[in-house]
Amino acid sequence: MHLNALLPLAALAAAMPQPNTHQIRSSSGCSKPLSPSTPAGGATTNHTITSGGRTRSYLLHIPSDYSPDTPTPLILSFHGNSRTASYQESLSQFSDPHFNPSWLAVYPQGLGNSWQGPSYATPGVSDTRFIADLLDHLEAELCVDTTRVYATGKSNGGGFTGTLACDGEVAGPRIAAFAPVSGAFYDFGEDGSGCHPGRKGVPILEFHGDNDTTIPYTGGQGKGGTLPDIDDWLAWWAKWNECPAEGKTVTSAYDGGVQLTSWNCGKGEDGLVQGYKVHGLGHDWPSLKPNLDNDGGTVVEATSVIMEWFKRWSLPEKSGWIDA
Ligand SMILES: *[C@@H]1O[C@H](CO)[C@@H](O)[C@H](O)[C@H]1NC(C)=O
Ligand SMILES: *[C@@H]1O[C@H](CO)[C@@H](O)[C@H](O)[C@H]1NC(C)=O
Repeated sequence: MHLNALLPLAALAAAMPQPNTHQIRSSSGCSKPLSPSTPAGGATTNHTITSGGRTRSYLLHIPSDYSPDTPTPLILSFHGNSRTASYQESLSQFSDPHFNPSWLAVYPQGLGNSWQGPSYATPGVSDTRFIADLLDHLEAELCVDTTRVYATGKSNGGGFTGTLACDGEVAGPRIAAFAPVSGAFYDFGEDGSGCHPGRKGVPILEFHGDNDTTIPYTGGQGKGGTLPDIDDWLAWWAKWNECPAEGKTVTSAYDGGVQLTSWNCGKGEDGLVQGYKVHGLGHDWPSLKPNLDNDGGTVVEATSVIMEWFKRWSLPEKSGWIDA
């Protein structure tokens, strides 16, 4: 049942994403003091919750300027298959104040080091349920701006970020924007029929190397199932978001090192869907400096681009979801 079926048309317009204008929504954890074991600006800490009858863990970074009186945006960063939450923290650098001075950063841990979607994922686990339970927990313990929760991730974690973008029921409706890197989009199918977004105006940004041999840009058979062509995947999001064909631009950026595809999807929604195709890059998180994926670095810093793009989006004030 879609609640917005009950909303009058005027309310639908108000419920579209509102770039640059944003209504803060405080979580129930606001005004609750931090526990002495998790001080603001302290080391990243490891925590557990129970979800679906299983113990699930996550790493939490609290920025130095966190205040229980200030609703704070929160980034979820998902590791790739066979990787860990701590690997993802080092790789994506959302705990580094240089990239992220003021937002909460959370690195959930997949069971068996993977996320739902591919055939190799741990059977019977709902990671969308885990993320909904995790957000319930974090929003009750910390002062979160619930209109500004974001998801990103690498490879299988990028694929799961896509799964959340398709999820209109459990956790997806609580996430404002989605930025997969080298995404392994197994549950979309080759033709996109596996994704049924619960709303329109879903902000999507993807990074992908055109020399990625693990999750090839052009798709095909992967380790966990069939993968889409990334250009098709981006075009599906443009279609699902009803971005007009004439709103699409393809430009060369970063001295020719990146082909940037971007859709202007209507009033104030320039760049609602974006693809960064990085020339010569393999299955890596793009970074100017060497990182755990790539000992040479590349032309673009995915973490900075993602941060700047996340800042543009928030969930609408009214909780009316647009029928897709
Ligand atoms: C966090 O705790 C979980 C559960 O006890 C454990 O499996 C995981 O290895 C820990 N992670 C880190 C980075 O210490
Ligand atoms: C693509 O990657 C392979 C190794 O995986 C490397 O030998 C080749 O030089 C790369 N191509 C480009 C254009 O960087």
